Amino acid sequence: MGKLTVCDHPLIQHKLTHIRDKSTNTKDFRELVDEVATLMAYELTRDVPLQAVPVSTPVTEAVGNVVSGRMLGLIPILRAGLGMVDGILKLIPSAKVGHIGLFRHPDTLEPVEYYVNLPSDATERMLIVIDPMLATGGSACAAIDTLKQRGCVQIKLMCLIAAPEGVAVVQKAHPDVDIYIAALDERLDEHGYIVPGLGDAGDRMFGTK
Ligand code: URA
Repeated sequence: MGKLTVCDHPLIQHKLTHIRDKSTNTKDFRELVDEVATLMAYELTRDVPLQAVPVSTPVTEAVGNVVSGRMLGLIPILRAGLGMVDGILKLIPSAKVGHIGLFRHPDTLEPVEYYVNLPSDATERMLIVIDPMLATGGSACAAIDTLKQRGCVQIKLMCLIAAPEGVAVVQKAHPDVDIYIAALDERLDEHGYIVPGLGDAGDRMFGTK
């Protein structure tokens, strides 16, 4: 089963509380999500491969380690996932960014793919699927399916807040995918919102509604 990591550093929990607060305005919401994404990226990249390189310090010749190039791909699910991309790119500017667009079919309520654009070397990269809210798990599973159908094998899922229901769905469908979240909330309500959650992540991020 995929590992579930709750990135519960005090700074992340502090910022997440302000993100949840309904009185936080759009500008602050966006900035806080960006900052939490940067902090979470630290945990997500804990296992990226390093490459030994020579380095001349003012004192001596030594061998240091640098992160191997061409290793990461960020795959935000449109549209709310976009809000976490820049925060990760601040730490890993060489990451490439692909996009997956999904909408919920009004009759079946199943996610339907309307846009996919991946880096040409996506199959060689460790891909991080990004969606702030892991609610039912439907969108996350559909996005991961899309990547696997195109030959991608190294996939992680990064979310701000997850419902236990969504975690269970992803872990069952994709046991090879590790999940990183900032908080595991109580449950989903009858409308599919995470409780206590933060409301509609896309609307709060982009000031719509
Ligand atoms: N998507 C959101 O934006 N919020 C939720 O609570 C659940 C899904």
